[in-house]
Amino acid sequence: METQLSLEFLRVVENAAIAAARTMGFGDRNKADEVAVTAMRETMDEVQMDGTIVIGEGERDEAPMLYIGEKVGAAAHNPRGLYPPVDIAVDPLEGTNLCATGSPNAITVLAASEKGGLLHAPDLYMEKLVVGPSCKGAVDLDAPVADNLKAIARRLDRGVDDLVVVVLDRPRHEKLIQDIRDAGARIKLIGDGDLSAGISAAVVGTGVHAVMGTGGAPEGVLTAAALRCLNGQILARLVVSKPEHEERLSNMGIKDGKRIYDTDDLAPGKKIIFACTGVTEGSLLRGVHFFGEGIRTHSLILTYDDRQVRFVDSVHLEKRPDVKVRFY
Ligand code: FBP
Repeated sequence: METQLSLEFLRVVENAAIAAARTMGFGDRNKADEVAVTAMRETMDEVQMDGTIVIGEGERDEAPMLYIGEKVGAAAHNPRGLYPPVDIAVDPLEGTNLCATGSPNAITVLAASEKGGLLHAPDLYMEKLVVGPSCKGAVDLDAPVADNLKAIARRLDRGVDDLVVVVLDRPRHEKLIQDIRDAGARIKLIGDGDLSAGISAAVVGTGVHAVMGTGGAPEGVLTAAALRCLNGQILARLVVSKPEHEERLSNMGIKDGKRIYDTDDLAPGKKIIFACTGVTEGSLLRGVHFFGEGIRTHSLILTYDDRQVRFVDSVHLEKRPDVKVRFY
């Protein structure tokens, strides 16, 4: 089932990336998101599954498509019981601003699991600490930043001054940034996209050793799905700062707003599939290339059960008799 579905999900994220990439640099983040959502939704309908969106574009009344609870896949149009039930989390365009400005690391993302395999996280902020496989178990969300950096450096057999930590460039991170600088580590400040940064932290050779700071909770769950497959770790805690946040938590069945989630708590599934495609050039994935006779996309597909990691370089040719495939 996973192999078949993962190939279908590949098409879903590829089509969303192609649609978004057509709007690259137009300065219109809403348009970029809208075309990615439409492409993702349409392609998903062809997938042989009984899918339910658990993380998507928002609540039913605020999103016309890919809203939480929406039924997707072939089962939405055919009698039930024929297709496997699947929970789906999507970020149709992670980094809408990155795409709108032609900046690096915009990606399209989908994660899937058996029922209940992905936390139904509310669209709140989440404190996050992400590390790769070598540093699993060495960090603590409540430890001082300097202690975590020392622990990461020890596990990676290097000095703190050889580390690179990715942090979203936001005023709320002023103290965090100062603490990292005081500890002597280097920082890569990003405008958007802590999900793609989190995946990079779990892949050796990307030059990212940790991601720290507060970002979206849905992105946190998607990061966890990828990290389950890549054997990395995310520690996270929801930011509950207003009475209405409490209400949203209880609506989603979350009782303890202060809980620290580990990777397995955010994405406990045993049959996780994670798929993403680069929209703009990035540190892990190339962006979409339009070359006249076709389109080239670069994706990452991960499956937890059989531990497969696939970097997929697809060429989508025009239906013309004279088309040629180029070896990069
Ligand atoms: P969009 O994909 O919605 O543009 O946002 C991306 C992102 O930068 C995430 O990577 C991050 O988790 C979140 O937004 C941070 O939110 P905020 O911009 O409110 O700080």
